Amino acid sequence: MSQFQDFNKLFRLDGKVALITGGSRGLGLHTATAFLQAGASRVIITARKAGGEHGIDQAVAKLNALPGISGSAVGIAANVANTNEIIALVEKIKKTEGKLDILVPNAGATWGSKFEDAPDASSVKILDLNVRGVFTLVQKSLPLLEAAGTRRDPSRVIIVSSTAGVNVPHVGENGTIMYSVSKAAAHHLGRNLAVELGPRNITTNVVAPGFFPSKLAAGLIEKLGGEEELNASNPRKRLGIPEDIAGVMVYLASPAGSYINGEDISVDGGARLCSGAHSKL
Ligand SMILES: NC(=O)c1ccc[n+]([C@@H]2O[C@H](COP(=O)([O-])OP(=O)(O)OC[C@H]3O[C@@H](n4cnc5c(N)ncnc54)[C@H](OP(=O)(O)O)[C@@H]3O)[C@@H](O)[C@H]2O)c1
Repeated sequence: MSQFQDFNKLFRLDGKVALITGGSRGLGLHTATAFLQAGASRVIITARKAGGEHGIDQAVAKLNALPGISGSAVGIAANVANTNEIIALVEKIKKTEGKLDILVPNAGATWGSKFEDAPDASSVKILDLNVRGVFTLVQKSLPLLEAAGTRRDPSRVIIVSSTAGVNVPHVGENGTIMYSVSKAAAHHLGRNLAVELGPRNITTNVVAPGFFPSKLAAGLIEKLGGEEELNASNPRKRLGIPEDIAGVMVYLASPAGSYINGEDISVDGGARLCSGAHSKL
């Protein structure tokens, strides 16, 4: 028989402080919900908009109304493509929390068009948020991450990339070339950070979703024929659901994931492995 230390806490996040960018909706909100339900003491979500139907405030209210949670959510508005706003965000967390156990750079931007039609501004926006912003956010958060991590229980950086970072998903009319390039960079940023920060008790991993219905994905899902058609071309015959993100995020953030470093996990039902006529992803 093996003796496991605290087996019942293997997938728990009790006492943990997490920051999730793009936490007001979509995959970021799924992640925030999962972290609180797994016992996190504080989940900080950030996005640009505070008010309105999709803003941070309504998300924080919903998170804090989750039944049975012991922790709480707070929202801080920040544009995480902007270095000054990243610095201000991290300063606020330093003052209120003093440490950061889990950092999830999740906010992302995309662009779909013919190659010839993509404006320069689309490339700047995508690279600033999906690559440079992630690099800077991790860099500025380093003292807080180091304050939280231990050899046995390192602090975690979990970058939300995309299967677009490992395949060539869309060219032609609805091309997403720079998005795909930015996500490949996000994957490789994760590997570099794993080696750079591992000795400082910080692990870095990448989660690469396939299609999950969300505001960001809605336009492309429609252009590719809608959910039904994409369900049919997926080996699992469906798109992603919130629980798919919850599971992988809690795994990587919890004691169960403490020795995983520099890995990327695709969460796409296997769609990235299909090609040509078999898949639209
Ligand atoms: N959904 C999918 O099918 C899919 C597939 C593969 C990868 N992904 C990746 O998953 C991540 C989340 O996507 P999603 O589908 O959940 O998108 P979403 O529902 O559109 O949510 C995006 C979130 O990011 C925030 N955001 C956008 N720009 C920001 C900025 N500059 N600074 C701070 N926050 C910002 C948005 O709030 P504000 O607008 O208020 O800022 C929102 O909270 C992205 O990195 C995306 O590339 C998604």
